[in-house]
Amino acid sequence: MDRKEISFDDFDEIVNPAEEENDFDQVVEASISRRGLIGGALAFGSCAALCTTFTPNLVEAATNRFAFKAIAANSLDAITVPEGYIAEVVVRWGDPLWSDATDFNHATRGDAASQSRAFGDNIDGMEVFAHGDKSLLVVNNEYTNRSIIWGNRTDGKSETDDDVLKGKMAHGLSVIEIAQQDGKWSIVKDSPFNRRITPDSEMDLTGPAAGHDLLKTAADPTGTKSLGTWNNCGNGSTPWGTYLACEENFNGYFSAADEDHKVSAELKRYGISSKDWGYGWAKVDERFDVSKHPNEPNRVGYVVEIDPRDPNSTPKKRTALGRFKHENAEVVVNSDGHIVVYMGDDERGEFLYRYVSNGIYAPGGETDTLLEDGKLYVAKFHDSGAGEWLELTPKTTGMADMAEICIHTRIASSAVGATTMDRPEWVSAHPHTAEIYCALTNNKNRGIKPNAGGDLTPIDGPNPREANKFGQIVRWRPNGSDHTAKGFAWDLFVLAGNPKVHSDAKAGSKNITPDNMFNSPDGLNFDSTGILWIQTDGNYSNEKDFEGQGNNQMLAGDPVTGEIRRFLVGPKQCEVTGLTWSTDRRTMFVGIQHPGERGDSHWPEGGDAVPRSAVIAIRREDGQPVG
Ligand code: FEO
Ligand code: CA
Ligand code: CA
Ligand code: CA
Repeated sequence: MDRKEISFDDFDEIVNPAEEENDFDQVVEASISRRGLIGGALAFGSCAALCTTFTPNLVEAATNRFAFKAIAANSLDAITVPEGYIAEVVVRWGDPLWSDATDFNHATRGDAASQSRAFGDNIDGMEVFAHGDKSLLVVNNEYTNRSIIWGNRTDGKSETDDDVLKGKMAHGLSVIEIAQQDGKWSIVKDSPFNRRITPDSEMDLTGPAAGHDLLKTAADPTGTKSLGTWNNCGNGSTPWGTYLACEENFNGYFSAADEDHKVSAELKRYGISSKDWGYGWAKVDERFDVSKHPNEPNRVGYVVEIDPRDPNSTPKKRTALGRFKHENAEVVVNSDGHIVVYMGDDERGEFLYRYVSNGIYAPGGETDTLLEDGKLYVAKFHDSGAGEWLELTPKTTGMADMAEICIHTRIASSAVGATTMDRPEWVSAHPHTAEIYCALTNNKNRGIKPNAGGDLTPIDGPNPREANKFGQIVRWRPNGSDHTAKGFAWDLFVLAGNPKVHSDAKAGSKNITPDNMFNSPDGLNFDSTGILWIQTDGNYSNEKDFEGQGNNQMLAGDPVTGEIRRFLVGPKQCEVTGLTWSTDRRTMFVGIQHPGERGDSHWPEGGDAVPRSAVIAIRREDGQPVG
């Protein structure tokens, strides 16, 4: 199969196949003995009954909390929103950030020089920051589709070093000032805040791992610096006004000139191999050759803190938050002032994490150590509906020190017996109650194959379906509403499915109907009113298991009643990801990633245009808030 048609995960599994465990029978046995539990989960799938005990604050349930009429699924090459709403493009891949930079060229798709001064590709997490009367939008540019960015070349492959560098410059982040005129938002070209952060931008490594031997490389013998960030997926933001970019599938950019080169077991756990995904960065930058620089991959896989208000600031990689395929970083200020960060590791059978700062946040006080000095935990879910956070320490993991735990975090979590999950994507905390939600997007290996570390993936409470195609959203409430507590209670907010095609567990929970069904929840974000927005990154074939589900989409969920309603449908072959609001809450900004990833879209410009990932602004015709 052509690599361009397979996901990061699938490529990683082909290069690095999971070994069948000797005790594989155990998995099968566990799956059978837990079948009863699936029935139980579906029986309580009436979220209304469950939520009543879970969410005592029912004030919000008194009224219909959705201000819009549901829209139908579709497979159009367009954005569809409900009647009374307007959706407009704000900025697209390749749009220049400065007036002396060149406009996007549909024939060539630009070059390295134009791309380095233009908006990056494939939008994921993003956040609006107010700065005086200005609005600064920070956006992750997760990756680029090779067949699109090099679509001017034979077979959609790079032909020159400049092609490779163009692809590299499409990665990273874009910081832009945006402004609204006659309702319409657009980029403020030449704003002093406009900035590209790329895989070549200098960053500091902070926290327990800074200076460790495993981080020392030819490019930085001190182990305290790092060049660049890439494959930033979801995001977070802090109460002190910084942005958190989360490095996810960082592995596939490394390769070795000698394809027979064998990497260490530690690198293998993270999917590093002698083969990259086809970006070819090692051809133009030797630090991506793991046979020559085996510590380079240890300098990526972190959460990166960025100050959007200071375009000259140096981003900081926060090693205390662990190294894994970070989806997003949901920051909560606990009632006692501790900073708590919830994070998922998005790979089949990987884990869910919590970080708790040792220090206390005080507005206006010192904040620099809050994300570099703290405790790291991993989640263990029990089928009883209880769960606990297992602290990762040298004692619990058998590892030498916190530096090693923060670099080889997956290995530490396997050592303590954390629960293997169905690909934890975004985590979002309810703005008014101590409830946290996490999208578990899907996992075709559930109950079938162990994870990359050999941990079994039996069918269990939060991951109740074998070869899970549709995904679910798990939520938990910390004991005593204390985000630093050891224990929590969990349940499932929704099991996605297709009740039109299936009548068993694949039909989904009771709050899934033929009118609101979807697959593969990914982006999650609460608005200020306590509505949970759900974005999907799933199968858009609209056939077989997915018949009637159409393109990827965005839905709104009510945590109190369990009701879910479709709000937006994206263009062909896109994923809907990234969500933030203007400071007056009258605009929501939504990301459209990889439209036409398999060659069948011309969104947003139409005609013969190259498809381009873009941020869209959605507002109401009557000017009322949208969350
Ligand atoms: Fe980049 Fe897990 O999504
Ligand atoms: Ca995602
Ligand atoms: Ca996804
Ligand atoms: Ca994606």
